[in-house]
Amino acid sequence: MTSLRPAAFGPRLLATTALFGALIGAFALAPAVQAQTTNAPPPAATVRTDVPADRPWMDTSLDASTRADLILKEMTLAEKLQLTFGYFSTDQKWQVTPIKNYVFPKEGLPDSAGFVPGIPRLGIPNQWQTDAGVGVATQRSPNPRQRTALPSGIATAATWNPEVAEAGGAMIGNEAFLSGFNVQLAGGMNLLREARNGRNFEYGGEDPLLAGVITGHEMKGIQSNHVISTMKHYAFNGQETNRNQMDHQISDQAARESDLLAFEIANEIGQPGSVMCAYNRVNGFYACENDWLLNQVLKTDWGFKGYVMSDWGATHSTTQAANAGLDQQSGWAFDRSPYFDGALREAVNNGYVSQDRANDMARRILWAMFDVGLFDHPVNGDQATTIDYAKNGKISQTDAEEGMVLLKNTPGLLPLSKTAKSILIVGAHADVGVLSGGGSSQVYPIGGSPVPDEFAPNGFPGPKTWYPSSPMKGIQARTQATVTFLDGKNVKAAAAAAKKADIVLVFGEQWTGEGIDAPDLHLPNNQDALIEAVAKANKKTVVVLQTGGPVVMPWLSKVGAVVEAWYPGTNGGEAIARVLTGEVNPSGHLPATFPASLDQTPRPVLEGDPKLDADSHPMSNYNIEGAAVGYKWFDKKGYKPLFPFGHGLSYTTFALSDLTAAPEGKGLKASFSVKNTGAVAGKEVAQVYVSGSGWEAPKRLGAFKKVEVAPGQSESVSVTVDPRLLATYDSASKTWNIAAGDYKVMLATSAADIAQTITVHIDAQTLNVKGQ
Ligand code: BGC
Repeated sequence: MTSLRPAAFGPRLLATTALFGALIGAFALAPAVQAQTTNAPPPAATVRTDVPADRPWMDTSLDASTRADLILKEMTLAEKLQLTFGYFSTDQKWQVTPIKNYVFPKEGLPDSAGFVPGIPRLGIPNQWQTDAGVGVATQRSPNPRQRTALPSGIATAATWNPEVAEAGGAMIGNEAFLSGFNVQLAGGMNLLREARNGRNFEYGGEDPLLAGVITGHEMKGIQSNHVISTMKHYAFNGQETNRNQMDHQISDQAARESDLLAFEIANEIGQPGSVMCAYNRVNGFYACENDWLLNQVLKTDWGFKGYVMSDWGATHSTTQAANAGLDQQSGWAFDRSPYFDGALREAVNNGYVSQDRANDMARRILWAMFDVGLFDHPVNGDQATTIDYAKNGKISQTDAEEGMVLLKNTPGLLPLSKTAKSILIVGAHADVGVLSGGGSSQVYPIGGSPVPDEFAPNGFPGPKTWYPSSPMKGIQARTQATVTFLDGKNVKAAAAAAKKADIVLVFGEQWTGEGIDAPDLHLPNNQDALIEAVAKANKKTVVVLQTGGPVVMPWLSKVGAVVEAWYPGTNGGEAIARVLTGEVNPSGHLPATFPASLDQTPRPVLEGDPKLDADSHPMSNYNIEGAAVGYKWFDKKGYKPLFPFGHGLSYTTFALSDLTAAPEGKGLKASFSVKNTGAVAGKEVAQVYVSGSGWEAPKRLGAFKKVEVAPGQSESVSVTVDPRLLATYDSASKTWNIAAGDYKVMLATSAADIAQTITVHIDAQTLNVKGQ
């Protein structure tokens, strides 16, 4: 097979030989380390009978901080620092570009993202790390793990359903645990500032509240399995082009009101044990040695108690990084040097990094391990044979079904007519499977990919991988019509066949992956022309899209219906079939604006240049839009997008009314009713936007609720608006300030479809840095 991990890492792997001895040293040293202190028994009242006398930290009645302090007292400096240094855990021989000076950690799990050796004498478990946010991924390997894949992160955000996100997190966290992993590199959540970003599919869209809530719940689900989740890539890793060098400029205020607010909300809900700092620079400093991001915002202002791990190859120094707040260097040998190995010991011994800080680094890692339950619920090797894949596939399928967005529908076209005699399916291998996004998050399909690699690179982030869940088979099982398939390579043949069919389903796809941005927003490989030709031949053309994020649709006015299915995961074909046939009423809404063209976006020309070398220093100005990301930018500029944020149709209709709102606590409570005015049961995503003066944009999403309503019925709904969403952040005083005044409260079904607006007076308030 071809590589899941890559050539693209080659240029980043400039491992030097100077400190290489230290790498070997870490393994050689661990067993030889002896305790320097004696055990101090905890106070008698807290001692539990089942706690070994020499391991008082195993007392589960103690909180994680106390337990971390107890074990820390027993540790030598070398042991503490051993926890701060992690290894890439994939055998050298699978690398397309061999990693210089790299030694595969023997106890690491094969072809996984990382490994941090534990300390057996104290019972500190190894940290076995796996990617990522849609399931248990495998790095390059001839025998990849085959696991359940959730739909892409943006698809889960499109559900607007925190319960679905949490169930998905719980499922993949369980597969991680049963695969022998206790750290999952999930929680991807960079706001969608760049529609071409190759990793938009891994993230939660453009709004801080929606992304924060959905990702927070996913991480909570993962950690319910005693598997630490990361939250990543902290922060402003908004594009893949020059991701290792790009310096994103953004003011403190704009940052706190946008991407950082998303991380803050997700952190409050999910309480991840770890935060992964990003590759890029922010305001001049690498994210992994950025005092403002790590020490000030994350650890001080938000009170984050866990540890910061670097992205693989994102550590650039020893003293600067450790003092700026990085607690663990990950994935050696992706960096130029093993900065947190021998060099960190020397830095501590010589006072460049204080003993206190060394303790803090180890304490944070141990705190997270205690807090999430790694000591009390140790992983027990590979038990993957016990995974219930059928059950997990259904969890993924529910996520996919709730996340699919019916963008356009001509009444009577969808759901597919039961009387149709012939259905033609065209394109995107819809006869055999559904697409997934590429890169380190790639979960290998159960049963293997049914499509030989076509256009994608052989190396990272490829190969282009499909899950063997056939939309065509799903449709065949639900219709009397004759269903035929054409691959769409011959546009004329597809148009001729379309003329003769009752209904045509054209599948369009845009494969995106880590490390590369999309060149533009068009479906690649002539698919626009294919859709155009088919739609010209048959008005009853339905387009089903599998894309990483927003795309443009030059053929939109000519087709009858469009469904955005994203990358729908393990059971994606079934999910698509159920939505198209009406077995499931679509209820996804866009978590990101679909622009009419790149000219409407803050950076019509992508910043950077893939040809720049590793030591270049490109800049990207995020102050152009500041906190006005996505629909906020469109509102501010008065642009009309192709499809607005929050948009999503249903096979039924809803009426939203009776909006009332009043201050409650420090925020606002809004109540309203949602009536199903159509003939079938369905779910509506009711959105409450708020509007104040002096904000970055005319309005912000303040709250949302997905509501299931039976036909003819009404549901009463109440939501609360977080006070931070009514405030502006003041960097000088580190406070959130709500100005006294009249605020508009809008009940809506998208950022552009407002059902009702009322005005509420709010008194002035000053909230602390946490918004409390
Ligand atoms: C990615 C991370 C991932 C890590 C480990 C990096 O290239 O940016 O998201 O967790 O690799 O595979």
